[in-house]
Amino acid sequence: MIDLFGREGPLVLEVGFGDGRFTVDLAKAHPEWLILGAEVSAASVQRAYRRLRREGIGNVRLYHGQGLFALRNLVPPGSLKRVIVNFPDPWPKKRHQRKRLLQEGFFRRLSTRLVEGGDLLLTTDHEEYFRLALEEAERSGLYRVEVKEPPETHLRTKYALKWKEAGRIFFHAVFTKMAEDPTPWPPIRRYEVAHALLRGELPKELTLAKASVAIPGGMAVFLEVARGEEGFYVLTHVEEEDLTQDLLLEVRRSARGLYAGVSRFGSPLITEGVKEAVRALVRELGRVGLEVVQDHT
Ligand SMILES: C[S@@+](CC[C@H](N)C(=O)[O-])C[C@H]1O[C@@H](n2cnc3c(N)ncnc32)[C@H](O)[C@@H]1O
Repeated sequence: MIDLFGREGPLVLEVGFGDGRFTVDLAKAHPEWLILGAEVSAASVQRAYRRLRREGIGNVRLYHGQGLFALRNLVPPGSLKRVIVNFPDPWPKKRHQRKRLLQEGFFRRLSTRLVEGGDLLLTTDHEEYFRLALEEAERSGLYRVEVKEPPETHLRTKYALKWKEAGRIFFHAVFTKMAEDPTPWPPIRRYEVAHALLRGELPKELTLAKASVAIPGGMAVFLEVARGEEGFYVLTHVEEEDLTQDLLLEVRRSARGLYAGVSRFGSPLITEGVKEAVRALVRELGRVGLEVVQDHT
């Protein structure tokens, strides 16, 4: 695991920090805490980052991406004092509800990262999602759940102020870890390389099957093929558990033959799923007559 803070201290994770005003208040109120924020919106990360710089805050690190990914890969097992989720996206439409964060699987995984007695603080205006979160945590059997009045500090976020003005009421719960899920949840495995060298003539055109390829915990699909000077670039969408990447695979001439593998562009993480996508690409190249001479997939 990366040492994000360069010192020891109680570790706190905020998922979906939005414009970061709560994060700043929290960091000022607890200068000894080490606060990791995870946020999927790039614009929000930028706003929060500027706010942290302006306020001279040194005990916060921002991660641009999924909270679950940060939890899995940036937080060592049994190290987290607290998780704070203020006004999570409620995903009210039935078909989107699987995107909700606070489900049984999340609570189970979280238990592997929390210290004994560590907790999650949820504040929301969405009663249905709130009830569901309570049920899901109860179902995991790993938490003591207490419904409380929201602390005043949690009602100063951008969304809290917006919903206060709209006259909405707020719900708050504390989920305290009482036991740990026995299934380990190790950080995602990363590889150095994923490529193959092939022999044969590079075709003039490359048409790849649009069908998705099943990979561990998800799927990969070739979205588009573009011709470059030395070969082809294949825009590829890879969805794995906790991680979605759009990356380029390439098929091009190299000093040692035809190279088919991951392009460095965008610095993708080479995961098992990405390796599986490269294997699928190599299979497709086999169908147009290219022969594998070295396989590092
Ligand atoms: C309704 S806003 C609340 C923002 C802030 N907490 C507040 O109270 O003002 C929800 C935020 O969560 C972010 N978000 C949604 N899903 C996320 C996830 N899986 N990981 C990290 N951030 C997420 C959204 O981009 C958005 O900024």
